[in-house]
Amino acid sequence: MDADANKIAALRRGEVPFFEPHLEDLLADARDNLSFTTDYSQAIPEAQVIFIAVGTPTGVGGAPDLRYLEAAAHGVGEHLGPHFTVIVNKSTVPIGSGNWVGTLVRERIQRNGAGGAKCFAVASNPEFLREGSAIHDSLYPDRVVIGAGEPKTAEVLYTLYRPLLDQTFTPPRYLPRSDRLGAVPFISTDLSSAELIKYAANAFLALKISYINEIGQLAERVGADISQVARGIGLDARIGTQFLHAGVGWGGSCFGKDTAALIATASEYKLEMPIVAAARQVNHRQRERVIEKLQEELKILKGRTIGLLGLAFKPQTDDLREAPALEIAQRLLERGARVRAHDPVAMERFRRERPDLDVTLCETAEGVARDADALVLVTEWPQYRELDWEALAAGMRSPIMLDGRYVLDRVRLARAGFRYVALAG
Ligand code: UDX
Repeated sequence: MDADANKIAALRRGEVPFFEPHLEDLLADARDNLSFTTDYSQAIPEAQVIFIAVGTPTGVGGAPDLRYLEAAAHGVGEHLGPHFTVIVNKSTVPIGSGNWVGTLVRERIQRNGAGGAKCFAVASNPEFLREGSAIHDSLYPDRVVIGAGEPKTAEVLYTLYRPLLDQTFTPPRYLPRSDRLGAVPFISTDLSSAELIKYAANAFLALKISYINEIGQLAERVGADISQVARGIGLDARIGTQFLHAGVGWGGSCFGKDTAALIATASEYKLEMPIVAAARQVNHRQRERVIEKLQEELKILKGRTIGLLGLAFKPQTDDLREAPALEIAQRLLERGARVRAHDPVAMERFRRERPDLDVTLCETAEGVARDADALVLVTEWPQYRELDWEALAAGMRSPIMLDGRYVLDRVRLARAGFRYVALAG
């Protein structure tokens, strides 16, 4: 069920309204088990488990805007069936929202005079999937976390997740199961612990990235290679190699929002979170670093043409929320530069969502490079690793490449005539 009739119409046609690898295949495979509606009265009364998965964007002062959650809780409360129903908060919600949703649902039931006839419980089941590998992460998760007030509720969800936990389902042909995957751990907690697990996990990943970016700044000063440093520390099993890729910093719908929400929640309890706050600060500084680097190379930005390779906040998605490319483009435009950009899948969405940004979109990377004073690799799409560098360099006014993700072969680029500049070092 979704309030957006366009989304529902697209899904009924078998179309996914955003880019996510294999999601359309999965939709086709599951066609016989799925139906779509804009009507609560069709979706809710017979359901035994209801997942609320609405957006919780950042609102005023960093706290999430819960109006969609509230509307969903009201809709659910209005139409709940007579049997025991588990209502699951899948959306990332502030700590305490489980109780709040329970209250909203109960109020609606009472308002309709159904009082004791309805029986439900609210559970929290945080989502850890990454955009771009959403199906993989859903089918082969590192863990499943359930927060519930009573064992009966957790049991319903344990039963629902059983095929995933025991990995007894038949994997889709496009995403085979790794031989190394064993049973998936199931964590059963109280409501607020599950809610905090989600925020604490995302904040930790965000600060891991900011940490390596902070070390990257120092690496530049002392002449060290940050990619080697990251590998050298990441191979310590206690640290781990993942989320240690330095670059223009994190974007997307989660890290910025969740770190802001964590700080906002803490402040309600008169608690400061200096480590999380510093991670945010470092992340913003990384984007400013791009501008500084270009300024160091070109001296004057006014009137220059800068080409951006990549708009999406990361590869394999068309999501532009908090994408570093947008902030970089904005800052360049403010300084009087012209900005050209390409992205393999996110350009259509960019046109729709950011008409305010005066960026010229080009159908190819070569188009972005034409007459540009510098290129910036912002999103590490695999296709940007193997471009016709000689042709690109030949078309530019000055062949400068700022590698914002440390993924390009600097020797190869230099051979093609580029001046290769890394974000740090
Ligand atoms: C994240 C969490 O990983 C996921 O568990 C949670 O459910 C939602 O938020 P997502 O935002 O989809 O997922 O993307 P993720 O792969 O975590 O990347 C987030 C950002 O960090 C991207 O902009 C990415 O480019 C950046 N990143 C990631 C780095 O800069 N360096 C890294 O080493 C890893």
